[in-house]
Amino acid sequence: MSLQSYLQEQRKRVDARLTQLVPPETQIPSAIHRAMRYSLFAGGKRIRPIFCFEAARVIAGELNPALSQDVEAVSCALEMVHTYSLIHDDLPALDNDDFRRGKPTCHKAFGEANAILAGDALLTLPFEVLASLPHTPAEVKAALVAELARAAGTVNGMIAGQVLDLEATNNGATKDSLTPELVEMIHRSKTAALFRASVCMGGIAARANEQQLAALCRFGENAGLAFQIADDILDVESSTEALGKTAGKDATQKKVTYPAVHGMQRSKEIAAGLIATANQAVEPFGDRASRLKELAHFVVARKA
Ligand code: IPE
Ligand code: IPE
Ligand code: MG
Ligand code: MG
Ligand code: MG
Repeated sequence: MSLQSYLQEQRKRVDARLTQLVPPETQIPSAIHRAMRYSLFAGGKRIRPIFCFEAARVIAGELNPALSQDVEAVSCALEMVHTYSLIHDDLPALDNDDFRRGKPTCHKAFGEANAILAGDALLTLPFEVLASLPHTPAEVKAALVAELARAAGTVNGMIAGQVLDLEATNNGATKDSLTPELVEMIHRSKTAALFRASVCMGGIAARANEQQLAALCRFGENAGLAFQIADDILDVESSTEALGKTAGKDATQKKVTYPAVHGMQRSKEIAAGLIATANQAVEPFGDRASRLKELAHFVVARKA
């Protein structure tokens, strides 16, 4: 199957399960469920859930129905946390964006209060989903919960990265403060942490052993950092239409990005190097990891 058809099929699968896991719009209070579903189903590549799935397959081969059902739910939990991060990232107090996934941002469509609460809801629901996995032993569920909470958190996790990103932006990044170390720390925290968790959690759900998990995590961390570098590059090279979010905003807002620190050519080389490192990490899995490697390539080759 071509990568394009594979991605399409996986996205359908994620969307079908997400729609079951998130309360319907008719559920009171309707406003919050409308806002949550609006942002979740506005589009999106579903790349984190897809990485999660594929990591589980690397460990367990074709998933039996029970495992498949639980890995699906785990992958949806990741997409919920990711969507929460986008809703809050777009708020006026953070990046102040009007456009996301090809539509007005959540706060533009539903007001700031509802957008804040929809984000909160999309951060809490996934933990209920993980704690309620029907076919997964309690200790595995606890490991999944811990992994996701850490990745979203304030110690090298997403919130840490967002805080560092905002501090650097609000303090007006000068030539001296734009260091390779700072941009790497921001990107590892704000984006690579959840990416790494996506791959790791697929492995954990499929009962990977310690060595297998270490290889998957190394893959996820490197592909995740490359993903954010590609996001920085696309902000410069792509268009608002293609991205579904306002292009060119990083330069306007003087964000600390890879192109700003390293220049465009070097940023592309660094991203390519990270993908090579990621793919090396999963070499021991042989052919089983070939789709995962293809996905890693997609992270840097994508046009949106
Ligand atoms: C955008 O993520 C934010 C980053 C962490 C770079 P995606 O590019 O995965 O956004 P969607 O889910 O496809 O909208
Ligand atoms: C987003 O980084 C990181 C998170 C949402 C955690 P950006 O601010 O670069 O993402 P976009 O470009 O708005 O999607
Ligand atoms: Mg941001
Ligand atoms: Mg942003
Ligand atoms: Mg960006």
